Amino acid sequence: MENYSIQTRCLQAGYRPGNGEPRQVPIVQSTTFKYDTSEDMGKLFDLEASGYFYTRLANPTNDHVAAKIANLEGGTAAVLTSSGQAASFYSIFNIASCGDHIVCSTAIYGGTYNLFAVTMKRMGIDFTFVSPHCTDEELDAAFQPNTKAVFGETIANPALVVFDIERFAKAAHAHGVPLIVDNTFATPILCRPFEHGADIVTHSTTKYMDGHGASVGGCVVDSGRFDWTKYPDKYPGLCTPDASYHGITYTERFGLGGAYITKAVAQLMRDFGAIQSPQNAYLINLGLESLHLRMQRHSENGLKVAQFLNGHEQIAWVRYPGLPGDPGYALAQKLLPDGCCGVVSFGVRGGRQAAEAFMKGLKLASIATHVADAKTCCLHPASSTHRQMSDEELHAAGVSPDLVRLSAGIEAAEDIIQDIRQALALMNTQA
Ligand SMILES: Cc1ncc(COP(=O)(O)O)c(C=O)c1O
Repeated sequence: MENYSIQTRCLQAGYRPGNGEPRQVPIVQSTTFKYDTSEDMGKLFDLEASGYFYTRLANPTNDHVAAKIANLEGGTAAVLTSSGQAASFYSIFNIASCGDHIVCSTAIYGGTYNLFAVTMKRMGIDFTFVSPHCTDEELDAAFQPNTKAVFGETIANPALVVFDIERFAKAAHAHGVPLIVDNTFATPILCRPFEHGADIVTHSTTKYMDGHGASVGGCVVDSGRFDWTKYPDKYPGLCTPDASYHGITYTERFGLGGAYITKAVAQLMRDFGAIQSPQNAYLINLGLESLHLRMQRHSENGLKVAQFLNGHEQIAWVRYPGLPGDPGYALAQKLLPDGCCGVVSFGVRGGRQAAEAFMKGLKLASIATHVADAKTCCLHPASSTHRQMSDEELHAAGVSPDLVRLSAGIEAAEDIIQDIRQALALMNTQA
């Protein structure tokens, strides 16, 4: 499969049916799996044999789809989770526990920020948030002796800041820790963070991978390149015997390519059970089969929308990293040469009320908290997801009251732009 282009692998990687087997990934809708002897099953419990015994830990449908995502990202192993939030949580909790510390970019999805800054902090894991534009000195100063990882988002939701993966990977490695990158908005079609030095990738598969607003899910992928065994004191969970699995040591038994994901399945799936349902995995696989075509169209439409908005008299500002002049443009040319996805953030002149009026006028774009979908959708955070915040609080969170996030779908670009045009014109007639 590796010799085929990523377009072909979107269709064919992860599942190769044998003679007479179903062509489409079968949905194994079974909680449990039957064995002839207790010894056979015992080998699975001891991680001595690979196989399935209970869908809270693993399921064949999920594994086919995870293998496809691992292949697209250029990783060695992957696991599907019940949501993107679960993927972010697992990616860190697999290597950090109470008393540990993580360095994280400030330009990340708000839900991830809350998970880290509030919920995981309550578990005793501390986060230092650094601007993605910080100096090398500021970044260096964020590390502590108990730092276990660095986290960032390739294209940040909704700030649309491009994350300098190479720079952050270099800093992480200089401090002997891995870089984890949430690659949700870019998808492996537009950016493969492992090629730029990242060690672990996470996804909300709910977004472009599914692409049709049908199923919530997540994924964690390992590059297999971070050498945990160089830091056995820092990563004892991977480098010393696991008493809950009869003393196996993950790095010894599964090597660098398999240790991290096997541990995530054996411990975190076993104990938290945030596994994706096989039905959702099947739906995500359908989305993956057209991901390469959709990402191309999303990116074309996103750029056309950004170009239309840029300089429009009723628009105060536009953020889209594919737009010349955008602060992320130069970095996007390097990391995202094939496009910058369909999400565009912009400010409507007149602030919060003007943005609300604009949203009311939309006819084709649906108002939805969702993003990265085949159908164009639009969100005004100040009057919806962030409505409890004052203007001052919104500014502090990096979400200005006039900010509208438009997720360009794969409809005809002219129709999306015409919808925006008429909604802006309607505001003038009503003013
Ligand atoms: C970049 C990013 N990461 C993670 C998540 C969380 O994903 P989910 O909603 O699937 O839990 C989201 C959700 O919007 C997101 O945009």
